[in-house]
Amino acid sequence: MIHYRKRLYLVITISLATIMIMLFFDKKTNLPSVKNSLCRGIPTINTITPLKDNRTFIIAPYFDNRKNKMTRVISIVHHKDVKELYCWFCNSSSGEIYISKAEIYVHSDRFDFPYGATDLKCLEPKDWEPRFVSIHWSPKGDIDQLPLFEIRNRDPEDSLVEFTVCISTMFGEYNNVLQFVQSMEMYKILGVGRVVIYKNSCSPLMQKVLDYYIAEGIVEIIPWPIDSYLRVSSRWRYSVDPKDIGYYGQITALNDCIYRNMYRSRYLLLNDMDEIILPVKYPNWKTMMQNLQVQHPKAAVFIFENHIFPKTVFTLNDPFNISSWRTIPGVNILQHVLREPDRKHIVNPWKMIVDPKKVAQTSVHSVLQAYGNKVNVPIDVALVYHCRVPLQAKLPRESLINDTTLWRYNVTLVGKVSKVLQQIGL
Ligand SMILES: *[C@@H]1O[C@H](CO)[C@@H](O)[C@H](O)[C@H]1NC(C)=O
Ligand SMILES: *[C@@H]1O[C@H](CO)[C@@H](O)[C@H](O)[C@H]1NC(C)=O
Ligand SMILES: *[C@@H]1O[C@H](CO)[C@@H](O)[C@H](O)[C@H]1NC(C)=O
Ligand SMILES: *[C@@H]1O[C@H](CO)[C@@H](O)[C@H](O)[C@H]1NC(C)=O
Ligand SMILES: *[C@@H]1O[C@H](CO)[C@@H](O)[C@H](O)[C@H]1NC(C)=O
Repeated sequence: MIHYRKRLYLVITISLATIMIMLFFDKKTNLPSVKNSLCRGIPTINTITPLKDNRTFIIAPYFDNRKNKMTRVISIVHHKDVKELYCWFCNSSSGEIYISKAEIYVHSDRFDFPYGATDLKCLEPKDWEPRFVSIHWSPKGDIDQLPLFEIRNRDPEDSLVEFTVCISTMFGEYNNVLQFVQSMEMYKILGVGRVVIYKNSCSPLMQKVLDYYIAEGIVEIIPWPIDSYLRVSSRWRYSVDPKDIGYYGQITALNDCIYRNMYRSRYLLLNDMDEIILPVKYPNWKTMMQNLQVQHPKAAVFIFENHIFPKTVFTLNDPFNISSWRTIPGVNILQHVLREPDRKHIVNPWKMIVDPKKVAQTSVHSVLQAYGNKVNVPIDVALVYHCRVPLQAKLPRESLINDTTLWRYNVTLVGKVSKVLQQIGL
């Protein structure tokens, strides 16, 4: 009797465990609809999927009917070697395949690297709505061997936030913890709803910080193992560092961020982790954008001037040299409120706030294709606070401009940052 019961418990335990494992993997692969579909192929789970030609890397396909009824596949291709690609659309209820030749559109901002951000534009079948697509270099082949992608944005239903910051590529064992936490807390003060980070690599300590913000529900990580497939440059131009692709594939990540968040966020901010689009005339992004949008109802792209606050120059009589922060690796931005003046004959680069529904293709400092106007926001309204190594290192301190806009948030910022560091246990 006891034996029998033991065995029964064992059976129940194993069944439960199996169910749990199945549920877990179901969640993890995030491809629930493949199961009930007649579409064949190899379901993809990674952010970057190489095709067999080793010259084409698929990020993700997105439904886009703003001009034609098409699927736009965000990808990376070798600009010379890849001449022909096909979308194999699959009807998940009948298994029918519709093959459509892709228009291969390599973005103009490639900066001479052989690989670049690319849109594969495929017209969809007229009378049905494909949910899955495979990409192949030929209209012939064995579908079972091709990677199968779910087409995103077909029926958008995710929660809408007002502002999302897209951080393209965290790399190089990133460990600038203090500046990261300060940027995050500033974004939150200014109104961020979500921060999407394309992560290549970071330090273990930084991972702890990321885990904190993931648990908080603010940060979303998109794995970005681009260096597993291509030789990446940490510079933006081929001539300075001749590799396969520029800046860890930053432009591709930004374009993916646009489409991934098109229906999840009213606005996207495209800036780096060491940059804050800082309102001068308004207390936060919401009031700023409400005012700017009223003044420019047709605008899709708002560009902000980038200004360098050298991390090598500290303020005198420093009120924010906070003792509990001194052991944390990274820059304390409150100590850097002196900014470099404009240079003659050199235009400051920009960073942007965009309405993603009106953007087709983006680069880093400008949008390449949009359904709407561009607005240059003057620096008495807002600027990009960018704390990094100086561009004009030889300038004496007296030539720098005392710009304490950031200090308006000092009380709130210091409180929030200290609380986060304490909760993480730093
Ligand atoms: C692609 O790369 C893999 C792994 O490096 C290699 O085995 C394969 O032969 C390559 N295929 C082509 C078509 O170059
Ligand atoms: C499959 O095709 C049929 C007719 O061709 C269409 O009515 C149906 O909506 C399609 N289903 C899917 C899931 O695409
Ligand atoms: C901050 O304070 C510590 C301790 O007083 C001092 O050693 C350090 O030089 C200060 N840093 C700056 C940038 O003023
Ligand atoms: C910079 O401005 C702040 C407040 O506007 C002031 O307290 C500080 O003394 C100024 N610093 C310098 C170096 O001029
Ligand atoms: C810090 O912020 C408060 C307002 O919250 C302001 O009164 C104070 O002047 C700021 N401190 C500095 C050094 O700017």
